[in-house]
Amino acid sequence: MASLTYYGHSAFSIDTGSHKVLIDPFISGNPLTDVDPEAIECDAILLTHGHGDHIGDTIPIARRCGALVVTTYELAGYLDSQDVQNHPMHIGGYRRFEFGAVKLTPAFHGGGIEGAPVVCWPCGFLFYFDGKTVFHPGDTCLTVEFELIGRMNDIDVAMLPIGDNFTMGPGDALEAVRMLQPKTVVPMHYNTWELIAQDADKFKQDVESRTGAKVVVVPPGGSLEI
Ligand code: NI
Ligand code: MN
Repeated sequence: MASLTYYGHSAFSIDTGSHKVLIDPFISGNPLTDVDPEAIECDAILLTHGHGDHIGDTIPIARRCGALVVTTYELAGYLDSQDVQNHPMHIGGYRRFEFGAVKLTPAFHGGGIEGAPVVCWPCGFLFYFDGKTVFHPGDTCLTVEFELIGRMNDIDVAMLPIGDNFTMGPGDALEAVRMLQPKTVVPMHYNTWELIAQDADKFKQDVESRTGAKVVVVPPGGSLEI
């Protein structure tokens, strides 16, 4: 059985049953988790962009675990300079790895890298394993690309930002659900700071009364079987 664990913000760990894959492991300094980043094990890390609340502990975790970081070409180049094992891809690209397959999706957001004078294009990830499809769009606004992604994929779980201010908020995330048509939605990128405080239970009510999707509000530290 596969499971998805939430560390708060946009940080997740997916245990496929055979591999552990982290997405945007912002652990140190994340007010929603007290997990010790040194206790986290993984085989691969999917990194959507270089902002501090996403790249987070990617470099130390990847070095310690010998994990492969999959990200955009520009950010992969920066990771090369940090002696981190990586695989560069770009938006629209699909590739199979031992831990599953990924496709990079467009994200409309900033491309700065925390602490480095490099700008990269941000992305989202479709992650495919054992007949399952998980979508993590990274930080983005509502975009019509979701329509196409929904049409071309049978999404089991979509993690969607609802925090507003830096990304789409709950109203736009509801429209994203209409376009993506996932079976399950997990809200993310909210309540980390006052600036992105949101009522996830209200989001759940709104989505479940207006779409066929189920919303699972996973508390930080909580897991979901997928
Ligand atoms: Ni960001
Ligand atoms: Mn962010």
